[in-house]
This record gives sequence, structure tokens and C-alpha cells, in this order.
Amino acid sequence: MVLQDNKDTITLNNGTKIPVIGLGTWQSTGEGEPARNATKVALQNGYRHIDTAAIYGNETEVGQGIKDSGVKREEIFVTTKLWNGDHKISAEALDASLKKLDLDYVDLYLIHWPVSTNNATGKDFEDWDYVDTYKQLQKLYKETKKIKAIGVSNFTKKKLERLLSDPEVDVVPAVNQIEAHPLLPQPELYDYLKEKNIVIESYSPLGSTDAPLFKNETVAAIAKKNNVEPGHVLISWAVQRNTVVLPKSVTDARIISNLKTFKLPEEDFEALNNLSKTDGVKRWANPPWNNFDD
Ligand SMILES: NC(=O)c1ccc[n+]([C@@H]2O[C@H](COP(=O)([O-])OP(=O)(O)OC[C@H]3O[C@@H](n4cnc5c(N)ncnc54)[C@H](OP(=O)(O)O)[C@@H]3O)[C@@H](O)[C@H]2O)c1
Repeated sequence: MVLQDNKDTITLNNGTKIPVIGLGTWQSTGEGEPARNATKVALQNGYRHIDTAAIYGNETEVGQGIKDSGVKREEIFVTTKLWNGDHKISAEALDASLKKLDLDYVDLYLIHWPVSTNNATGKDFEDWDYVDTYKQLQKLYKETKKIKAIGVSNFTKKKLERLLSDPEVDVVPAVNQIEAHPLLPQPELYDYLKEKNIVIESYSPLGSTDAPLFKNETVAAIAKKNNVEPGHVLISWAVQRNTVVLPKSVTDARIISNLKTFKLPEEDFEALNNLSKTDGVKRWANPPWNNFDD
């Protein structure tokens, strides 16, 4: 099978182009500032897309990695995310993120979760929710030059329907960043987002921490058959279903490897599309304060 560095882009609903493969940076923290090196290595080896978030605590290191790489700012697509406790102060939160990243703008700003938490009580606000937050982001998008596109993350179909039916919402989110891999293909949400021209960004494509999907028997067999690594199978599957995909690694060789994709033979693509029917649906990111049922 021919593996090639994937430098493709998808055009978002506002005309902005997003590179199909982005470096994930959740848990890229701790000793040695791993996000700084990971960002640099990724950019120097062909990536043009980095995914971070205020809550990851590594925006400063990502910004430094961008500088270290020597790649021009305008060639790079940078995403960061608004944390739950900052929903009422998104303008300030965005400025804080930009300051840490040492950037004038981000390419994509996401509502990280559809949850607006009152930091003082730890409970959700009663007079505010994600629709109010989205309207603030919409204003920042329209009135400042600090954001090239806005989107959401972890939104269900029901929540998007509610958001889009609000008369004051006139910017359709460019993306919905969701957990997606062969054990969580989310077919109904997938079809809905396609219909609305909202691009899916697949997070935890390898099954999150320690890449447990590498051990799935079908994934491993497809990798062996095609003479590639399980990571190539999982990342190529996400690409082949027209999603953006965000593999995370802090290991140089893995970062370089994860940019490579190939075209899965139809029968293997179909086997992965159907994997959750035989092996069961598995969601790794399911925090108790969020509700995926409505
Ligand atoms: N919006 C959200 O709520 C949300 C939630 C979760 C994730 N995300 C985004 O999506 C990104 C990816 O998801 P994730 O971090 O949960 O997990 P992931 O990318 O599915 O898996 C990361 C794990 O796989 C390992 N790995 C990476 N490449 C490998 C390879 N080629 N061979 C073997 N192991 C490999 C990594 O190890 P090493 O790092 O040690 O190499 C790490 O333990 C995040 O970093 C974040 O940017 C967003």
C-alpha cells in the first residue's frame, strides 16, 4: 500500500481551508514542555494544523513551537477552544488564549463543550447556555479580526438544531469537533452535519490515551493485510469519510508517521464502517457534567 504525507485541505462553509490532518495536543503537558517540541516537529515535517484548547494548559508551548518551527504564521491553521467556565467572558478568554499563543488571530475558535459552568458554584448557569455563548462568538467573529472561523465541539444533533433555530444565529458553525473512530462512527450525527455543511473534526481517532484501538483485532488485521501500522488504518479511515482528523502524539516518530495516509480498499473501509455493530459502541470522552442524550 502506498503511504503518502497527507497535505489535503477541506473548505469550510465560510470559504476557509482547513488541513485534513491536525496535531492533537490534549495531555501534551508536563515535564519538558512536550507540546512545544511536538508542534515544532509536526510543522517541520509537513503538518499545517495544530489543535489546542485553553484547558489543555499548553497554549504558550504551542505558540513557542510555532515560532521554533520557522513556518510562517499564515501557512498554519491554529484552533483553540473556550472553556466551560469562561462562557460568559468569551472575549476576555479569547484574548488570554491569543496572548499565550502569541498570535493576533486563531483560525478556528470552538465552544469546547455545550456546558456553561458557573465557576463560583461549580453548577451550570440558570440564565445562560451555549446558545448565548455562541452568539458572543458570532459577534467576535463578525466584529474583530481575531477569529477566522467559529465552531462547536461535543454538540449533539439536538443541540445543533436548537442552536440553528435561534433567530439571532446566522453564522452556521464551521465544524463540530466530536469523538469519532470505528467504534463511534455516529452515523446519524454524521449525516446531519453533512446536510448542514458542518465539517466533522474527529477527535480521539486512535481511541485516546495509549491508542487502545491499535489492539482491536479487525483494525490490526486490516493493518497487517495492507502492510501499514494500525494508526495509518484509523487515520486513513477518518480521512476517507471526509472528516478532519486530530491524532495526538508527543513522540517524534509517531507524529511523522501519523501524517501518512493511504486509500483503504473498499472492503476494509466497509468493515471499519460496520465495526461498532459487531464490537460495540465505545465512547472514551464522557465526562459526568455533560449530557450526550439531548
Ligand atoms: N474537543 C474535545 O472535547 C476533545 C476531546 C479529546 C480530544 N480532543 C482533541 O483530539 C486530539 C486527539 O485525541 P486524544 O488525544 O484523545 O487521543 P488519540 O489521538 O486518539 O490518541 C493519543 C494516544 O495515542 C498514542 N499514539 C499516537 N500516535 C501513535 C502511533 N503512531 N503509534 C502508537 N501510539 C500512538 C499517543 O501516545 P504519545 O503521545 O505518547 O506518542 C497517545 O497516548 C486531542 O489531543 C485533542 O487535540 C478534543
